[in-house]
Amino acid sequence: MKTIKELNLKGKKVFIRVDFNVPIEKGQILDTTRILKALPTIEYALNSGAKIVLCSHLGRPKGKKVPELSLKPVYEYLKKIFKAPIKFLEEIEGEKSERELNELKEGEILFLENIRFYEGETKNDPELVRKLIPFAEVYINEAFPVSHRTHASVVGLPERVREKGIGFQAQKELSYLSRVIDTPEKPLFAVIGGSKVSTKIEVLKNLLTKVDKLLIGGAMANTFLLAKNFSIGSSLVEKDYLSLALEILNLAEEKGVKVYLPVDVVVKRNEEIIEIPLNKVKEEDQILDIGSETIKLFSLALEGAKTVIWNGPLGYFEEEPFSKGTYSIARKIASLSSVTIAGGGDTLLAIKQAGTEHAFSFLSTAGGAFLEYLEGKELPGIAVLKK
Ligand code: 3PG
Repeated sequence: MKTIKELNLKGKKVFIRVDFNVPIEKGQILDTTRILKALPTIEYALNSGAKIVLCSHLGRPKGKKVPELSLKPVYEYLKKIFKAPIKFLEEIEGEKSERELNELKEGEILFLENIRFYEGETKNDPELVRKLIPFAEVYINEAFPVSHRTHASVVGLPERVREKGIGFQAQKELSYLSRVIDTPEKPLFAVIGGSKVSTKIEVLKNLLTKVDKLLIGGAMANTFLLAKNFSIGSSLVEKDYLSLALEILNLAEEKGVKVYLPVDVVVKRNEEIIEIPLNKVKEEDQILDIGSETIKLFSLALEGAKTVIWNGPLGYFEEEPFSKGTYSIARKIASLSSVTIAGGGDTLLAIKQAGTEHAFSFLSTAGGAFLEYLEGKELPGIAVLKK
């Protein structure tokens, strides 16, 4: 796989697939991280004399033009950032599109409207790919977070373009993930949280072949606790996954992986919020965070790690006072001298809110793609760059 630096961009139409799927409210971008992380690649292409075509998706418009999912707010933001001329193209076919593309000069940017406004994008439709080909003499993937999708602009198009490669941020994401998953410095510990075990079964199974310790928190821990016959009251749980949870615990034992589950919890009992040991949970209790003893247990367990990987909050951190467990573990991981990497929207938000974002070795901008990598899958948007 080539990196952008190994390709000749001068005078070429360089199609950069970015992931500007950012939260926007009333035309305001709430988090510009993904945009800012793609800037070095765009700037490098600009300085190399490329004629840049930027393409992204935003949300899930299902092949329809949904005004709230227009990329115009991102365009307005990009205009402020770049000195280079930048134009917005609402349609990728027709006279205007042809003219703009022909007139595009070196060091200029053409920014396409939300590619998911076309039905063919998520279907990887060859017809849409055919329409995109004129925009891409060179193809660059700078969209790691969407690289697990077999979509037209992620897989179909690069399949048809000979000159292709990976952007700086996507390359960084890949090399950190591979460093942590494929060739980690041991011992490797994983902290996995979030609400559902169902979405992370494959992640857990794959991690058990790699990690030395597995720490489980968040509502998904409830499923494990119930599977082990602890009372979890009226907490969030996935009853259909009890036997799979047991299977995972058995697999861990077989592999010699030490699994840590909460030993005490913070619950809402009627309108009261109390911290109690696990065996004191009553029928009406709702578990919303790990307790102080668990924070101590997890913190101690993390000592001595050479590598730590984290995905998923450990409690309902969005609402106070249930952020304590997640923030405490964020601070603990941040204090380690190990290689520390985290990914997923909620996890990143919690890390930022805990004020620890600069203390991690690497924060992935990806959610689904991060998880699929942890599952051990090859991402189609990356695989295609090697063909
Ligand atoms: C993400 O935010 O995880 C990526 O942009 C992918 O979005 P999707 O889940 O809608 O494909």
